Formats: sequence, C-alpha cells, structure tokens
Amino acid sequence: MKIKRVGVIGAGQMGAGIAQVCASIGKVVTLCDIKQDFVDNGIATINKNLQGGVSKDRISQKQMDDTLGNVETTLDKKGLKNCDIIIEAIIEDVDIKKELFSDLGILCDSKTILASNTSSIPIGILAEASGRADKVVGMHFMNPVPVMKLIEVIRAKSTSDDTFDTTFKLAEDLHKVPVLVNDFPGFVSNRILLPMLNEAMFCVMEGVAEPEAVDTVMKLGMSHPMGPLTLADFIGLDTCLAIMKVLHKDMKDDKYRPCPLLEEMVIEGKLGRKSGEGFYKY
Ligand code: CAA
Repeated sequence: MKIKRVGVIGAGQMGAGIAQVCASIGKVVTLCDIKQDFVDNGIATINKNLQGGVSKDRISQKQMDDTLGNVETTLDKKGLKNCDIIIEAIIEDVDIKKELFSDLGILCDSKTILASNTSSIPIGILAEASGRADKVVGMHFMNPVPVMKLIEVIRAKSTSDDTFDTTFKLAEDLHKVPVLVNDFPGFVSNRILLPMLNEAMFCVMEGVAEPEAVDTVMKLGMSHPMGPLTLADFIGLDTCLAIMKVLHKDMKDDKYRPCPLLEEMVIEGKLGRKSGEGFYKY
C-alpha cells in the first residue's frame, strides 16, 4: 500500500517530531491531541525546528513553508479516519493506549494501519485491543526524531507481511534506518538503554558519585553523546519509570527493578527537562 495520509496522535516532543519528518517528505499529516494547547505547542516545536534548519541553511524557506503546509491539526480522532497509517505517540499507559486502539479499530477505514511509537508496551496487546491485529505494528522513533536515524519496526505475531513491509518502506522514505525487532518487552533499544540509565541513578542514590561526575564518566570514558542522567532528563523521568516498570513486570526479573530515587523524583514532579527539574535544573 502507498502511504499518502498520515495521522499522528499525541503532539508532545515525539509526536511533533514524527509529524514534522512525515510532512517534510510530502505526506499529508493530521496531528491530533486532546487539547488545543497541546496541538499549538506541537506546531510551535515543528516551527522552531524548521526555523533552526533554515537559519543554518540546511533547508530553504520554501521547504519549511511546504512542510508546515502539509500539517493540519484536529482535536477529534474522527478526523483521522481516512489516514493510510496512524502513528500513536501518547502517554506510556497501557490502559489508555488499549482504549485508543480499540476506538481507532472501530472508527478508521479498514485499510488503515495502526502503528504505535510506544517505548516498551507489547505491540501484541495493542493489536488485540484494535480488533484488526494484522494491521498493527510498532514504529519506535528515537528522540530527537528529526535528528536520530533509527526506527525500530516492531513486528507482533499478528502483524501481516503487508503491514510490516508498508511500515518499513515508510521508515526508509523518511530517510531513517529501520530495523526489524520482534515483540519483546522494551524491544532492543530500551531493554539495553533503560537498565543503564537506571544503574546511573543507583550510583547517585548510593553516593557513588554526583550526577555531573556520572555523566562525565560515560561521556568521556565511553564516548556517549550525552551522559545517562542528562539523557534520562531529556527522555523524561516519568517515561523512564514507565519503561522500567514494564521491563520489571514483563521480564519477571528483579534486575529490572526501578531505582527508588527515580520513583521518588517522579512522585515529586521532577520529570526532567519538561518540568524544569530532574537530575539537573533547566
Ligand atoms: N530537536 C530537534 N533537533 C535537535 C534537538 C531537538 N531536541 N536537539 C538537537 N537538535 C539538532 C540540532 O539543531 C543540530 O542540528 P544541525 O546538525 O542541523 O545543526 C543537531 O541536532 C546537533 O545538535 P547540537 O550540535 O546542538 O548538539 P549535539 O551535537 O550535542 O547533539 C543530540 C544533540 C543529537 C541530541 C546528541 O546529544 C545525542 O545524540 N544525544 C543522545 C540522544 C539519544 O540517545 N536519543 C535516544 C533517546 S532514547 C529514545 O528516544 C527511545 C525511548 O523510547 C526512550
């Protein structure tokens, strides 16, 4: 199937980035969220990213205008019913995602592919909820979406060849590098990344070193572009905790237990960059 119309649900940092990269290759994108403020912030993020590209001569003013012109917005899921693919990028809560996939399964055209950008929730659970399990797939983008090359394309047991191939091809058309990953908790990226970030938090909690020192060790000692605590703040500590909880529950292994300091910070509303404070102040 040829993808022309893309729906993106969730206009946060991931959803806005996904809408931007799809619109930049000429797809007609409908960006959907539950509040006008959220949608407006998403469009502002896209604007800022594109403006940065224009000022660095990476893209022309016309490319920026064309990209923005390809994005429309809605507060009503029904506005997505004729999309060829819908990419969900909402909060990491399994019950909320299941309800959304169930609604989309009812309201969308029968050909519509339903993709999830979930960081860790099994695609099979969302597939079952949708009532069209063969049309459900994972499309896991990395943050910041316009910059990072990888997309994990997650194939659930029920995903059809056509759904998988169409999604893989869309990822290539986005100038990304898609990688086939099977449907296991945390997929590959977060099964490896999150336990490392969690361990960095244990180092801080146990007084092994201050956050700056932990980050410096990993940046200069292991050539990571960002230290693990800076990266955790960037991803969002609530998202990090949600992923650790899925790994802990689904892998049934205490080596994935969330660091108590992480749990405490999330309860205190210290969510990283987006709340103004996490391991660092912003
Ligand atoms: N949004 C859009 N573009 C951004 C950006 C953002 N938030 N942050 C930086 N950029 C762009 C810059 O504009 C710049 O673009 P140009 O090349 O066109 O100038 C480019 O990225 C490089 O930026 P900088 O020179 O300012 O800074 P940098 O060299 O330190 O790179 C970075 C920034 C790319 C974010 C780099 O620090 C990095 O790779 N960090 C690690 C990111 C990472 O690990 N992401 C995965 C997170 S895990 C995940 O997403 C999965 C999950 O489920 C949790």
